[in-house]
Amino acid sequence: MIIKESVFTKSSSTYTQCPTDGLPEYAFIGRSNVGKSSLINMLCQHKGLAKTSSVPGKTQLINHFLINKEWYVVDLPGYGFARIGKEQREKWQKMVREYLQQRKSLVCVFVLIDSRLAPQRIDLEFINTLGDMQVPFVLAFTKTDKISAGKTATNVDNFLQELRNSWEELPPFFVTSAETGLGREEILSFIDNTNQSLNK
Ligand code: GTP
Ligand code: MG
Repeated sequence: MIIKESVFTKSSSTYTQCPTDGLPEYAFIGRSNVGKSSLINMLCQHKGLAKTSSVPGKTQLINHFLINKEWYVVDLPGYGFARIGKEQREKWQKMVREYLQQRKSLVCVFVLIDSRLAPQRIDLEFINTLGDMQVPFVLAFTKTDKISAGKTATNVDNFLQELRNSWEELPPFFVTSAETGLGREEILSFIDNTNQSLNK
């Protein structure tokens, strides 16, 4: 797929405020600072489209970006950000949970996993929550430019091995870097194929 156009549409603080045109959407979620906004910019080849920051907690709302006037990519706030108050954290959790449960045009969630780390309980728990809610998802391992290819492969294997404990079938996964563009073609093909199967 060629991305001809990527435009910020709106930020919403609840799913009820999200766009109402019914176009299919793909949401990006994962721990704070895992690289959600950076991966979106890399996919769209559009620097500064989604706001990034080295300080966790940058994305605080549900952000819609319209791609080729055909589908949305959605940037969500991260989870597991310790330095915010309980009240704020609960507000974000409610916003994201309701969005995931209620948003009819949500086709698939990309769960981002930091490729440098051993499997994190918080990610595994979040994935199991998606399972409970029956939300379709795939995985994207991020920041692979920061470690060797061998270490990436080991960490990806370890993560998938953990998932096998609770999942019979493993989700599709992508190995990515916002720095080098690794994984871009694969993710865009996946979205393209999925969009086409929706139109059949
Ligand atoms: P929140 O919105 O705060 O939840 O964070 P986020 O998941 O959107 O992360 P963001 O894209 O803002 O990136 C966080 C930091 O990681 C930034 O300093 C990015 O430059 C850096 N980063 C993200 N992806 C990559 C990557 O693939 N490689 C490298 N080297 N750095 C990355
Ligand atoms: Mg962000």
